[in-house]
Amino acid sequence: MSNVTVCVRFRPLSSKEKRDLGDNICIQSMDSETFIIKDEKEEGFTFSFDKVFYEESNQADVYEFLVLPIVRDTVNSINGTIITYGQTGAGKTYSMEGPNILESDEKKKGILPRVVDGLFACIKTSADPTKYTVKLSMVEIYMEKVRDLFDLSKDNIQIKESKTQGIVLSGATEVIYFLPLSDTAEALQSLSSGIANRAIGETQMNMASSRSHCVYMFTLNQESISEKRVKSGKLILVDLAGSEKVEKTGAEGRVLEEAKTINKSLSALGNVINALTCGSPAKANHIPYRDSKLTRMLQDALGGNSRTALLCCCSPSPSNASESLSTLRFGARAKHIKTSPLVIKVSEEKCSKKNGDASGTRDESFEKILEKMSERLNDEDIKLLEELFIQAGLFVDPDSEEDLESAIQDVVQQTISSLMKAVEELRSTVEMLQRENNAMKGRLAVAERCDALPGKNADFLQKIFGFLSSFIPGM
Ligand SMILES: Nc1ncnc2c1ncn2[C@@H]1O[C@H](COP(=O)(O)OP(=O)(O)OP(=O)(O)O)[C@@H](O)[C@H]1O
Ligand SMILES: [Mg+2]
Repeated sequence: MSNVTVCVRFRPLSSKEKRDLGDNICIQSMDSETFIIKDEKEEGFTFSFDKVFYEESNQADVYEFLVLPIVRDTVNSINGTIITYGQTGAGKTYSMEGPNILESDEKKKGILPRVVDGLFACIKTSADPTKYTVKLSMVEIYMEKVRDLFDLSKDNIQIKESKTQGIVLSGATEVIYFLPLSDTAEALQSLSSGIANRAIGETQMNMASSRSHCVYMFTLNQESISEKRVKSGKLILVDLAGSEKVEKTGAEGRVLEEAKTINKSLSALGNVINALTCGSPAKANHIPYRDSKLTRMLQDALGGNSRTALLCCCSPSPSNASESLSTLRFGARAKHIKTSPLVIKVSEEKCSKKNGDASGTRDESFEKILEKMSERLNDEDIKLLEELFIQAGLFVDPDSEEDLESAIQDVVQQTISSLMKAVEELRSTVEMLQRENNAMKGRLAVAERCDALPGKNADFLQKIFGFLSSFIPGM
């Protein structure tokens, strides 16, 4: 059992921060793991992480410490996940991609192109002939929908769970590279075309702000020809959209809606981490993975079935101290997550069976779920639940009682909250109708009284009452 690796990276001051507060910074380095940060009231907080990368750090330093061990694990069939987290404009995308994914400057290259280099370089010259393939999928979570960045027509990819593969993106495009025939330039070209499809917007904090969470999924398969065995390792890179205080970023209209959705899914991520690190080890508490697409997608990484590393990106400026503090607190909490990733070895026989029945998996599992539930529920309830499962895009492992229970619990919770919402809407509609009804009654009474008056007086009074009733409700 090991912990999630958590590192912090402070980017250099931006030109805006320099303009506002000169060269002032709110952090004081103690060593390569510990620093003190001062908040707006000049109160100091000490933090320690696995490693701190200060403003002068290089992209290569981050890769070598945080990412390279996980790339090596992937080659040894241990799943890995690397997440960049932090305030908008804090340097997540810069760390992940570099200034440009096709950047040829060796010093500026980000994590992503270095991972491609690392995975493509894994081919060993051994006596046992092995076929190597790397599969790449790329999706973004935009406004709570998972979109395929290699095929924009697939704009609602479902997240499913498989016993052997963990969390999978059902139907997402997979670009396959056969090594050593394919080269890294090919993969970088695909990544560049996917990145061009990502939702980007301009805010006051960042000229090119990511408005979505971006997930890069690499699967490395090593098929030993003599042993008829496939070793498979999955490496997921996640460039999160940044948390933001909308009053600071000046978000309006669509950008504001995006910001609200981003903040909501990041708080769901915080809740999952709290649930994972607060509960007593003896009693497994419910982890709300299904509260957002992001947490569902990161279930393996957070749930301990993957080697996970988190890069918390921060601004060193006093003007962003409170956001940096909240990022650091998130990182400190995440540090307590325990992981114990398993080596994934898939036999040839199992592998072909799995590929063969991929389309039938959903129906089969649904049938099993319904069969289990039929002992407790009547036909109508079962139909309703089936409908809810489909609408919620839920997929559970039919053999796991725990997964089944948690899916039912989630569906029930979702249903209760949507019913409460519907009741609330209904109540406000009834209130509005009652108000309109009273107003109509008032107008009718006035009209009747006016009718009793002779000729011109009646017309005049009716006009006056009509005019007043537009200001005074219930008249
Ligand atoms: N370590 C760094 N060195 C030099 N420039 C950096 C560094 N980190 C970030 N920057 C610059 O800061 C700006 C914002 O960075 P970036 O786009 O990576 O932020 P972000 O965290 O991805 O924000 P968002 O959540 O809005 O997408 C960019 O212009 C980027 O080039
Ligand atoms: Mg970004």
